[in-house]
This record gives sequence, structure tokens and C-alpha cells, in this order.
Amino acid sequence: MSPVSTSTKDGIAVITINNPPVNALSHAVREGLQTAVETCDGDDAVKAIVLICEGRTFIAGADIREFGQPPQAPHLPDVVNRIEACGKPVIAAIHGTALGGGLEVAMGCHFRIARPDAAVGLPEVKLGLLPGATGTQRLPRLTEVKTALDMMIAGDPLPAPQAFQAGIIDRLADGDLLDGALQYAQDLVAANVAPRRTRDLPVTPVAENFFADYRQSIVRKTRGLFAPQQIVTCVENALRLSFDEAVAEERRLFAECRNSPQSAGLRHAFFAEREAARVPGLGRDTPTRPLQSAAIIGAGTMGAGIAYACINAGMQVFLLDSDDAGLKRGTQTIEKLLAGGVERGKLDKAAAAACRQRLTTTSDYADLADVDIVIEAVFETMAIKKEVFGQLDAVCKPGAILATNTSTLDIDAIASATGRPKDVIGLHFFSPAHIMKLLEIVRGSHTADDVIATSLTLARRLGKIGVVVGNCFGFVGNRMLYSYGRENQLMLLEGAAPESIDKALHDWGMAMGPNAVGDLAGLDVGYKVRQERTDLPDDPRFYRVANKLAEMGRYGQKTGKGMYLYEAGSRQPIPDPLVHDLIKAEADALGIEQRDISAEEIVERCIYGLIVEGTRILQDGIASRPGDIDVIWMYGYGFPRHRGGPMHYADSIGLDKVYARVCEFRDRFGPMYWEPPALLRELAESGRSFADLAAESG
Ligand code: 3HC
Repeated sequence: MSPVSTSTKDGIAVITINNPPVNALSHAVREGLQTAVETCDGDDAVKAIVLICEGRTFIAGADIREFGQPPQAPHLPDVVNRIEACGKPVIAAIHGTALGGGLEVAMGCHFRIARPDAAVGLPEVKLGLLPGATGTQRLPRLTEVKTALDMMIAGDPLPAPQAFQAGIIDRLADGDLLDGALQYAQDLVAANVAPRRTRDLPVTPVAENFFADYRQSIVRKTRGLFAPQQIVTCVENALRLSFDEAVAEERRLFAECRNSPQSAGLRHAFFAEREAARVPGLGRDTPTRPLQSAAIIGAGTMGAGIAYACINAGMQVFLLDSDDAGLKRGTQTIEKLLAGGVERGKLDKAAAAACRQRLTTTSDYADLADVDIVIEAVFETMAIKKEVFGQLDAVCKPGAILATNTSTLDIDAIASATGRPKDVIGLHFFSPAHIMKLLEIVRGSHTADDVIATSLTLARRLGKIGVVVGNCFGFVGNRMLYSYGRENQLMLLEGAAPESIDKALHDWGMAMGPNAVGDLAGLDVGYKVRQERTDLPDDPRFYRVANKLAEMGRYGQKTGKGMYLYEAGSRQPIPDPLVHDLIKAEADALGIEQRDISAEEIVERCIYGLIVEGTRILQDGIASRPGDIDVIWMYGYGFPRHRGGPMHYADSIGLDKVYARVCEFRDRFGPMYWEPPALLRELAESGRSFADLAAESG
């Protein structure tokens, strides 16, 4: 059955698309839509046409799953042009989100009506694409060039009332959308209004330097990305070329974007983060436990950040700390976050007041008797964690979820301090907890399915991406971070300056270099964790420089010096000759001859270190899918999204090549860190990729 159907009411044809879940423009939809428009155009009984969608949204765009396949006619730009060429007024009736190809179809229509709670946008850039179905040409004809560019460069949707103000929407529907659209059609017919074709509208001219300035203004936020520059070129063309010439150019540049590795990486990211919500072995119908109230243990920066995220999500929150000074600090942190939220327009004053109402501070565990979930965020020391969990076990109601925010420690050992290990789970938030989108959900050996399902629900409620992983030292994220950090530390001793390593990785696309990150997180934090570990490699070079700096009290930004120097009140790292001397002295003491290390080697050793450890993690069953690892690294550690995460990046190079390089590293640097995992060899030798592995395991 075609996903497109047509009915007629009082001379108005209603073309309805029904292609769940989001009415994406699959081949069948494009074909059905084109046929329906042609039929209505040729039908004398039809005076005007309404295009509307069933289900939760108007068309959400081209079908992203089709991008990897050979394009099939009718192509979307041709369908959009066909709609526009229709001799009778065509009205798009928009609810939900008209995105990408969806908005392009709507702009091909002659008029647009939308529900006030709808939104429209051209988010192609988030997939490494440009609007490739005439959107770069039609949007600047409906609204100001700058508004159009901003929408396409940020890719964020514009709420219908604002789109109405901007000229993209012609009418807002007061009541039922279909009724409103039919009325609009009747009004147009009664007034004998001819089709208003967007292609015929003029583009408002801009100042001479507008595009050069615009390109300059987006340099920072589009660092390393291909599509944004092409989008600007297309919009420049809207003023330079005829509509048809500019559309042909748009199509050419769209194909370049679609075939780029960046788009492949971003499309992988899109699907991987949705896939993460589906946990193998955990049915979609797994029940969840209530999540009305939460207790956060520990009012430090992390605890306060988690508490803030929870009150913002409408939960009643108890923030518990053993001393009054801690609670005072925690409350002040939350107050600052609320004030910042109001200042940035994230929440209004009434919402901030409601958040405050939902927060209770306490030092008494007895107050936690009725909470649905507890999230412990105290010091990263097993003895303290166990003591806290013993107390929670004594006071919390049966069925309460007892979660730990540990970033490295054994969940089973923590759970053993309670008589209810099935209720215990790891919820590893990333700092700052109210901003970072990742929630690593760590299942212990006894964690109940409904506790995992509820944790995923919590992640969604907090606006985060939850990824379920297994229990081992550091789980997925921090376990891999050790390999990445290890190579950084080794290369320092071998002669690469901290700032050279940071520059190489930042230029490659990491949000920050590892040495700047270490100073931000605090060198004392990793130092303490390493002190607790009994399984570190027997290697005097291992984290040697970081350990020395921590022992000197150089903790990073918080002490004004760490791997770098910081001026008072500034977060700008300044290279420190003292650190260079210290590194040189350590290298001499270890008999390491220093040398020049290229940016290419820096990137390869750090990123291949990640890939090798990620492969071991898959081999050990700690991550269920390569895509889960990618999501963790993109959302928790600033891995460039356009490279799709470390495992997708390995696929994009080719696992045979990655394997060969890892073997070279093993031969050059020894097998201690570079012995290739059996899974990597197996995939390389059989010509498979991590994506193949994921597809095989369904
Ligand atoms: N193509 C194929 N599948 C899509 C899709 C698309 N454009 N958009 C969403 N889906 C799928 C998702 O993968 C998901 O599938 P799953 O249930 O199997 O995991 C399902 O639809 C529901 O999506 P969400 O879980 O994201 O649902 P939400 O309600 O949270 O969000 C949405 C809905 C806002 C539409 C969001 O899915 C979204 O932003 N989609 C992408 C929109 C987009 O980027 N459009 C542009 C596409 S490129 C284009 O149009 C090119 C053109 O210019 C030529």
C-alpha cells in the first residue's frame, strides 16, 4: 500500500502521507507524492490541494537510511519542483517538525499553515549535508538571508510562531490543523489567488562584505567541518546565479557532502545514539520503577550538578552531605546554576523558583526513607562508598534504586555492602553534570532488568544519552581513556611538548587536548585513582609526568599550575618551561632519548590506543556494540562527531590498515601495550568492519 493517499472535500484535495515513525521521504513516499500531485493537478474538480501528514509529525526529512544506497528516481528536488509547478494552490499543513526535506517540500508548496506548537528547520548540517532539495535557494527567498543561513548553519528548528514572524509560515492554525488548512484553501480559492511560487520571489540583497564576514563568524563553531562552507556558497549563489543554475550547483555540492567521510561519520552517530537505547536482552516492555524523587549523596561539584539536573527535570530532590559547610557550598552551586539558567534564557524566574521548591538539603540519612532513587557522588574511595551504601541499605524503602556515580570502581564490590545487589547500579555522570549529555549506565552482575530500564528512562528525563555497559575498571569510557592518556604521557617523555600534543589532537578534532583536559579535571583526581589501583602495568614510565606534577601540588587549573600555567582567573593554558625541564629530567633519568614527534604520530598513537582498547572492551563483552563505544566517546570525551567515534573511525580507515599499523607499533614499542587483540586480527583478516560485527550480532 502506498504511504500517500488522496481524498477530496468540497473541491479541495487532501494528500496525506502516512509513513511512520516520522514520515521520512522514502522512495515510496516520493513516488506517491509526485503521482498524487500530478493526479490532482490534472483533475478539474480539484481547486486547491492540502498536503498533510498522519502521526506524530510532518515530514522529518529525507530517509537517512537511503543515503548509503544508490539514489532512486524520483529524486526529491524533482518532486519539490513538481509540487511547485502545480497549477493550483498547494498548502502544506504542518504539525510536529518539518525538517530537512520536509521543510523543502513545504517550501515547494505555495502556502504554509502550521500548528503553533510545530517547528521547522533545515538540520542537514548535523548529518554533514546541506539542504539538497532546493532548500538553500528557497529559504533565502522566504526570509532574510542571515536568518536562512543561521538556520542552516546551526541546524536548529525554529518554533512556528517565530517562523511565522520570519515569513516562512504564512498562517498559524488556531484549532484543528486540517480544518484550518481546508479553510485556508477555501479562502485562496474564493479570492482567486494564484499559486505563489517561492522560486519567483526575490532574495533580499545583502551588504558587500556580508558573506566574507559571515564565513569569518562561523569559523570557530564549524571548525574542521566541510558542509557549513558549502551551505554559505549555495546561499551566495542564490544572489549570484539564476534559480535553476543555483539549484544545479546545490545538487552537485550536496552529492559531495553526501559522499564525504564526515557525513558518513555523522549519520553513524545519529543512528548509534538511537540504537544505544535498545539494550540487547532487555525487552522494550521491561517495566520501569517510579522516578518522582531522588537523593543525591555528596554536595560537591558533581553532586550539586546532578541535583540541579534532577530538579530541572521535575524531580523532588534531597541533597545530603555529612557537613553543613558542604551543604552550603552545594546549595550555592545550585543557586549559581539556576541564576545562570535564567540569565541564558534556559528557564524563567517562575521555573527557577519551582526548582528551588523541589530541593531539600539534609545531613540525615533517615530523610531518604521514601526516595525512588539515590545517586551517590562522594569521594572515589571504595571504603567510603561501601560505608554510604551500608547506610542506604538500612534506610531506603524496598525497591529504591541505589546508584553510584563512581567513574572507575567495581559496582559489585559496592553492591556487596548492601543486602540488595539487584537494586544497585552505576550511573556515571560526566562533569559538568548538568551539561554533559552522556550517562554511562553500569550494570553489575546482579543488577535487575527493571533497574537498567529505569536508568535509561532517567537518562532521557535528564535530556541525556544513556549507554549501558558492563562492569570493569573504568567501564568503557575511562578504561579507554587510560590507553589514550598513556600514549600522551609516553610521548611527553619521548620528546613531544604538552602543547604540541594538545595542538595535534585539537587540530584533528578533539574538543581539547589531553593535557589541557588533565588540568581541567585536576591532576590529583587521576593520581588518587592510580594510587588505589593494584593492577597497573609494571612500567616506570606509566603516567610518570602526571604523577610528578600531582606530587608537587600542581593539580591544574584549580592551583593555577599543572601541566600548564594559568594566570589568575583565566583558563587559558600557558606552556611552562619548568614543566619542559621536568619532563626532560625524567626522560634522562629513565634513559629515554628525546626526539621530534610528528603531529601524525601523536594522533595515531593516541587514537589507535583508543581503538585497541575499544576492541578489547568488545571482546570482553563490556560494550555490547561498537556504536555504544562511539557514543560514549563522542558525548563524554569530546571525540569529534564528524569522525563518528573511535570504532567508526577505525572502520573508515579500514581494519586491515589499522591492524597493520598496530602490529608496527608492537614491533617498534613492544607488546606490553600494542599486542593486537584477537578480535582486531580476526576482523582484519576476514575483511570485516566493526559495522559488520554489529550487523552480525543484530
Ligand atoms: N530518516 C530515517 N529515519 C529517521 C529519520 C529520517 N530522516 N528521522 C528519524 N528517523 C527514525 C529514527 O532513527 C528512529 O528510529 P528507531 O525508532 O528505529 O530508532 C525513529 O525515526 C524516531 O526518531 P527519534 O527517536 O529521533 O524520535 P524523536 O521523536 O525523538 O525525534 C525527530 C523525531 C525530531 C524527527 C528526529 O528523529 C530527527 O531529528 N530526525 C532527523 C531529522 C533530519 O535530520 N532531517 C533531515 C534529513 S536529511 C535531508 O532531509 C536531506 C534533504 O535536504 C535532501
